[in-house]
Amino acid sequence: MFIKDQLSQTEQLLLMSRAVESARNGVVITDPNRSDNPIIYTNPAFTEMTGYSADEILGHNCRFLQGTDREQPALEELRQAIKQERAVTVVLRNYKKNGTRFFNELTISPVRNEHGQLVSLVGIQNDITARIEAEARISDFYAIVSHELRTPIAKIKSSLSVIADGEAGPVSDTVRRFVEISAKSADSLWKLIENILDFKKLESGKFRLLKQRLSLAELAENVVAEFRPVANEASIELTYQCLASPHVNADGQRLVQVMENLVSNAVKFSPEGSEVTVKLLLTDRNWARVEVCDHGSGISAHDLPRLFEKFQQLESPDRRLRGGTGLGLSICKAIMEAHGGHVGVISREGHGSTFWFEIEPLQ
Ligand SMILES: Cc1cc2nc3c(=O)[nH]c(=O)nc-3n(C[C@H](O)[C@H](O)[C@H](O)COP(=O)(O)O)c2cc1C
Repeated sequence: MFIKDQLSQTEQLLLMSRAVESARNGVVITDPNRSDNPIIYTNPAFTEMTGYSADEILGHNCRFLQGTDREQPALEELRQAIKQERAVTVVLRNYKKNGTRFFNELTISPVRNEHGQLVSLVGIQNDITARIEAEARISDFYAIVSHELRTPIAKIKSSLSVIADGEAGPVSDTVRRFVEISAKSADSLWKLIENILDFKKLESGKFRLLKQRLSLAELAENVVAEFRPVANEASIELTYQCLASPHVNADGQRLVQVMENLVSNAVKFSPEGSEVTVKLLLTDRNWARVEVCDHGSGISAHDLPRLFEKFQQLESPDRRLRGGTGLGLSICKAIMEAHGGHVGVISREGHGSTFWFEIEPLQ
């Protein structure tokens, strides 16, 4: 829409045309009412991006940019959108006139006349090769770094356990204490690397779930049993209330990972002498819900909405939300969403928090 009454219609059209001509994104217009949906307009950015001249392009369908690389899942998405006359954004592998491959982020939108009839399709193209290649390099970097870190940490862990067990000779209580501290730090480092790797997998969509029928009550009970000694040591009473016994179709290891994360946080940041309760129940809409309630310092209303976002450094008094990698809760969220479920938190500063997740049970 143009600013009112300042430009004549001709001036508006001219300005619009110059704007599209000057755009740095490729812009093409096609005519879906002509045979094979040919290009009827191309701007200079498109010819520059592809290396073809306007004469070589006009009158042809855009698929020539794919060369022989036609087995691309995004193409089916594109065909459907064109058939249904709706907008879509896809990333395609395309080839310039000189044969160089590039990643084309293409958005097409239908253009309709005053009667709502489709008159053309407009496509906007962006060469995102640099971004895709940078992402691939980062991914490789993560894989190499984490491998290079994991190997020495595994050796440190096993050496420390040999010392602690006295297999390398008698150890004094003082030495044992220092060895235990070192082992805990090595464990934390190990967990951090696992978290980073998980996170990368989640981000790149390489995260596979091995789903099977599971008893959620059993999983929750095992996690509570696993954390009871840790809680006892911190003088925290860890209790379990099983108010339902739903079965779920889920990846057990991943659900345990979510529960471990929530319970471990609750125990770690609860005041001495307080209680942490793990509750399994069915919600009003009959979904299975696991709640982990603590009496810690709670989370401010300001921080709550950002809590499950990655790499959040929050100002909350709850120490679990400061420091660390800020990855644990975002991994929990991604795991539950991959299961079609949800995670959330109810919290009031100074009154503790209830972290929860819900998943649809099997009938
Ligand atoms: C407006 C518009 C712009 C398009 N731009 C491109 C493009 O830049 N690169 C590309 O590979 N395909 C592009 N296409 C998609 C192809 O023209 C075609 O629709 C796609 O290859 C799927 O159909 P097909 O199986 O008949 O080839 C565009 C389509 C439209 C409607």
